[in-house]
Amino acid sequence: MKVTVVGAGAVGASCAEYIAIKNFASEVVILDIKEGFAEGKAMDLMQCASLNGFDTKITGVTNDYSQTANSDICVITSGIPRKPGMTREELIGINAGIVKNVSTSLLEHSPNMILIVVSNPMDTMTYLAHKATGMPKNRIIGMGGALDSARFKYRLAEALGAPISDVDGMVVGGHSDVGMVPLTSHATRNSIKVSEFLSEERLEQVAADTKVGGATLTKLLGTSAWYAPGAAVSGMVQAIACDTKKIFPCSTFLEGEYGLNDICIGVPVVLGKNGIEKIVDIPLSDAEKAHMQASAEGVTKTNGLLDL
Ligand code: 2OP
Repeated sequence: MKVTVVGAGAVGASCAEYIAIKNFASEVVILDIKEGFAEGKAMDLMQCASLNGFDTKITGVTNDYSQTANSDICVITSGIPRKPGMTREELIGINAGIVKNVSTSLLEHSPNMILIVVSNPMDTMTYLAHKATGMPKNRIIGMGGALDSARFKYRLAEALGAPISDVDGMVVGGHSDVGMVPLTSHATRNSIKVSEFLSEERLEQVAADTKVGGATLTKLLGTSAWYAPGAAVSGMVQAIACDTKKIFPCSTFLEGEYGLNDICIGVPVVLGKNGIEKIVDIPLSDAEKAHMQASAEGVTKTNGLLDL
């Protein structure tokens, strides 16, 4: 199992590290345009192999896509991260060109790859990858909901005073500060609806804190987060590589599902060896349906900024 991670920045390197530690991939190639940067990150990570007990071979390359050839799964993390006060959508001017070039360069060397897009604005970058590569829609996946759901569970556990392992919840919709849809009506504490423990007001606060989870960290860190984004995408890579059939909320191209067309946005999907193996239709409350529709309008507006 060969995985390529484009972008040796904090998110890409974290993703590569988590993949290696999980020890399901034979090889991880990290590619960056900055001379020696990916090589350095790869060497540093390989020097953890005896300490963290993995056999995955991690190599770094500077802008040489031939070294990514025949990758099973490719992850695009490259592009600029946001600064405090910025929205993800403001990154489109620079990141769109990067994602278009990277996705087509990867496809040239790995025609059968499954592509995971992390770069922001992620839903629009995933849509761009579709248009730029013409790949089947099951093999292009956007990572946002897995990260947002992890933040949702963090906030739910905080509100409940419960261990994270007792909490489950999912965030769908656009990966944006205003477009996320935390599914509070579905969230549970050990199979019990969280509404049995938390008031509507407290749940609304959990949802609000979840939606700005990325911006909260960017304000504290001065740049975008990287540990949870890296962990989230590594979990998706593992589900595909190991054909686990786990359900994740992922940005995927919709053709009528959830009443939406010609858009990439977060919905529950089954991930396996073929990438997106099934889009799962779940019941949404009227409020959640309205939030999803509004979220889709926002993503479509951002898509309109693309020079396709
Ligand atoms: C985040 O929410 C980088 O979009 C990513 O942290």
